[in-house]
Amino acid sequence: MTDEKLIQEAMEVRVNSYSPYSRFPVSAALLTESGRVFTGVNVENASYGLTMCAERVAIGTAVAAGEKTFQAIAVIVKGGGSPCGACRQVLNEFAPNLRVLMADEMGNLIRERTLAELLPEAFGPHSL
Ligand code: THU
Repeated sequence: MTDEKLIQEAMEVRVNSYSPYSRFPVSAALLTESGRVFTGVNVENASYGLTMCAERVAIGTAVAAGEKTFQAIAVIVKGGGSPCGACRQVLNEFAPNLRVLMADEMGNLIRERTLAELLPEAFGPHSL
């Protein structure tokens, strides 16, 4: 699975974003160590604070399917923005060395970081 293909998978589900309140669609494609891909979109709610981010939808779907080890995530955000702090923390639980590919709404790769770069000195399972 190439980075370009992973970004493409995230681009394909972007249309499914449920974001009537922010009008800010986000989508993600998460690549497991075994080569499977799980996608997610942001799912907003009339009770705004219950909104689910695309990255957390993707990781929750993957974990529900029995996957717990991950190589990379592609995230599609307008302008190529980076995952929010809450999503960084949830991704860190399973994959502190995850490659995070940040692409814009055209599918162009803007930046790549590791999760450890995005969330240094993280609190995680080994902190307990
Ligand atoms: N959002 C995500 O889905 N992921 C992020 O990492 C940042 C924010 C969503 C939440 C909300 O539906 C919209 O983007 C605007 O904040």
